[in-house]
Amino acid sequence: MSNCPSRTCNPKAGSNPIPGNPQSFSTKDWIDRQVNSEIHEAMKDLMLDNNTLKKISTLFLQNIERGLKKDTHPTSIVKCYPTYVQDLPDGTEKGKFLALDLGGTNFRVLMVNIDSDKCEMESEIFSMSNELITGSGYDLFDYIAECLAIFSKKRGVAEQNLPLGFTFSFPASQKGLSKAIVVRWTKGFDCKDILGLDVGELLTNAVNKRGDLKIDVCAILNDTTGTLMSCAFKNRDTRIGMIVGTGNNACYIEKQANAELFDEPDMGSGDVVINLECGAFGDDGALDFIRTELDRVIDKEYPNQGRQLHEKMISGMYLGELARRYILKFAQQGLILGGKTSPIFETQDSFPTSNLSEIEKDQPGSFKLQRDILHQLGLEHATDVDCINIRFISQCLTRRAAHLASTALVTLIHKMGVKKVTVGIDGSLYKYHPHFRTLMIAKMNELIDPGYTYELMLSEDGSGIGAALVAAVAAKKKRQLGIS
Ligand code: GLC
Repeated sequence: MSNCPSRTCNPKAGSNPIPGNPQSFSTKDWIDRQVNSEIHEAMKDLMLDNNTLKKISTLFLQNIERGLKKDTHPTSIVKCYPTYVQDLPDGTEKGKFLALDLGGTNFRVLMVNIDSDKCEMESEIFSMSNELITGSGYDLFDYIAECLAIFSKKRGVAEQNLPLGFTFSFPASQKGLSKAIVVRWTKGFDCKDILGLDVGELLTNAVNKRGDLKIDVCAILNDTTGTLMSCAFKNRDTRIGMIVGTGNNACYIEKQANAELFDEPDMGSGDVVINLECGAFGDDGALDFIRTELDRVIDKEYPNQGRQLHEKMISGMYLGELARRYILKFAQQGLILGGKTSPIFETQDSFPTSNLSEIEKDQPGSFKLQRDILHQLGLEHATDVDCINIRFISQCLTRRAAHLASTALVTLIHKMGVKKVTVGIDGSLYKYHPHFRTLMIAKMNELIDPGYTYELMLSEDGSGIGAALVAAVAAKKKRQLGIS
């Protein structure tokens, strides 16, 4: 397909030296020729053409419709949870807020000061062991309360009963702005004993038990909602929030009339933000026609087997391991690395997704960053041609991820029917990969219907500032409506 590195002929890997005469071949020509023909053929499964992406878009839209409707929601795969966020910030929000951010690589506590169109914040990161995120949920919430107490005491606000927004980035069914039921865990978290319980209540109980801290839990939100809100604070055209980080998910603004599960009175906007939980798209087999043999292997190796299948093709938690699996497979077939890898490289998770960003940062023909990575992995015997092939594998995986994320965004833009849309977007893969954004824009331009314009806006700490903004907007609305 057009955006994947093309190959003009198929010499055996490593058979051609770099041509001395730059006029006869460009470096790019030479590089293209070094991609092993068998590897190129095998990677074709990852190259999704526009017809395939359009088919995925149609399926995605059907899934969204099912998630929104009362009678199909219980069995729908893309859950489309109403978030109870009805209003976007309008720049008149004010106050001091606490925020929690759970669901990415780190757990963070923040204090955010919002004053008209300015936000100032301070934050602290707290580490979380694997035992903590896969053990008892009550212990996890005790730990969260402890971190919050440490943070608040240091800043002298522990007794101030500050309003708090909690960015809880897992599937949760909202029953109100500050009531969210844990539906299931994703991204390696697995605290089974609190499934079905309310995040707001768990936090309040854990805090009250301590007796040294007073907070007012005002809002529980998803990181996609936080991302949307933080961008909307600066740009009123923002109508979608997306995360391409450890996980992948999106939210968008829907008409309350279409959100059949939304059961609160319209506070004036007629809209409500919908958390799609679209990482689960494909969990009913709908995407099996694009999933590869190694997608299936990865699915089996990680928690939540058979679940989060769309996310497993897009997000940072899985892409590095997918790349490692492809490289290993081709080495075992004797197509690269002289058929030899290393014990470190043969270990699961030894190849994080950040490696793909580094590998693709090297200029064509240079392998400096890639060689540093390969060296650390005991693969110093890689030739330049091996490096070209490894970069090709990385490019195919990141392109597929970017194209699937673009397809989801275009589907949402078409569904909303709004001609000018800003998409708030965040997440480590989107932020740190050197070409992810460009790849997304190029593909969106190909897929979007004429007459629509859009902008991708990087969110500045959506999970932190967004949480404070959701709490602030809700507090302001209550004041306006005279609700205490
Ligand atoms: C996972 C979570 C979802 C979150 C996303 C990005 O898909 O289920 O709630 O928004 O990761 O962090």
